[in-house]
Amino acid sequence: MKEVRTHARELMSGFCRVCPICNGKACAGEVPGMGGLGTGASFMNNVAALAGVRFNMRLVHGAEAPDMSVEVLGLKLAMPVLAAPIGGVTFNMGGKITEQEYVDAVLGGCAERGVLGCVGDGVPPFIHESGFAAVKALGGIPFIKPWEDKELFEKLDRAAATGAPVIGMDIDAAGLVTLRLMGRPVGPKPLEKLRDIISHVSARFVLKGIMTPDDAMRAVEAGAAGIVVSNHGGRVLDHTPGTAEVLPAIAAAVKGKTAILVDGGVRTGGDVLKMLALGADAVMIGRPFSIAALGGLKDGVVKYLDQLKGELAQAMILTGCARVSDAGPQILFQSS
Ligand SMILES: Cc1cc2nc3c(=O)[nH]c(=O)nc-3n(C[C@H](O)[C@H](O)[C@H](O)COP(=O)(O)O)c2cc1C
Repeated sequence: MKEVRTHARELMSGFCRVCPICNGKACAGEVPGMGGLGTGASFMNNVAALAGVRFNMRLVHGAEAPDMSVEVLGLKLAMPVLAAPIGGVTFNMGGKITEQEYVDAVLGGCAERGVLGCVGDGVPPFIHESGFAAVKALGGIPFIKPWEDKELFEKLDRAAATGAPVIGMDIDAAGLVTLRLMGRPVGPKPLEKLRDIISHVSARFVLKGIMTPDDAMRAVEAGAAGIVVSNHGGRVLDHTPGTAEVLPAIAAAVKGKTAILVDGGVRTGGDVLKMLALGADAVMIGRPFSIAALGGLKDGVVKYLDQLKGELAQAMILTGCARVSDAGPQILFQSS
């Protein structure tokens, strides 16, 4: 990974510093770019919230070869990790590789290790076109922005034509500066509209950008098969809490009624296990996959996934989790 990161630092120069800890401090305000919006507080809160979660180390047990596989949204995954949808290689990462090379690297690496990658949407059209082509060839989940009617339904139909078993919408992109700058209409959706959108799609539907139990319950009411607890990596609204802070209350409201995914600040296998213990069924990771793909294309992604898998196994063994479903509050330290 060291070589991959060094190469990524060269290629992403001016867009991402590939810091030792990817926490949003050095890149605060860099949107477009890889940073968080405004003061960068939402991005930083994601990382800080996870860092504040601590493990109970538990060794008197027999969980020495943990089973990391999961089934979520009807998908069998070798571990509970997905690459988050990320688009805009040119204006966010420096454009030293093409959008197509980027999504092929992420989805190809994920497929090789038995997990799934997601692809994003945006302007110009080659963002979703590259994404759809990669999903068709390699498998993955397309995420569509919350456009206004005609564009939204057309895009959903084109996403469905990729054959993807799951399709998502990042409803929080309603606040994206990059789209506003380009004069493209995106917006929040009332419950009735959301119901229409979800019933239009025959694939299982995932709503990304959920930060409150209320919105999570509405997503369930509208028929979402899954939600992603996410603040879009801190890129849409300054001063939101970290996702690890809001996850337990959201899980208390909807666990078992919809699949709960979460992203924001997840960097290591230990972070993945923390999110599972806080109530997630699976975890998405964003920026580290971008660095891995820029620095080493598909091989870089495979290397990052192998690193994550080793870390997750280690964390599961040292907290006494024989399987992913064993992760719960008992593995987290609560100071009295
Ligand atoms: C450069 C960049 C582009 C992104 N593009 C999209 C997108 O097109 N669709 C989407 O749903 N989320 C997008 N996201 C948000 C990610 O899917 C994810 O929510 C976020 O990166 C998770 O935080 P992390 O990077 O700290 O892991 C983007 C994030 C970044 C950094």
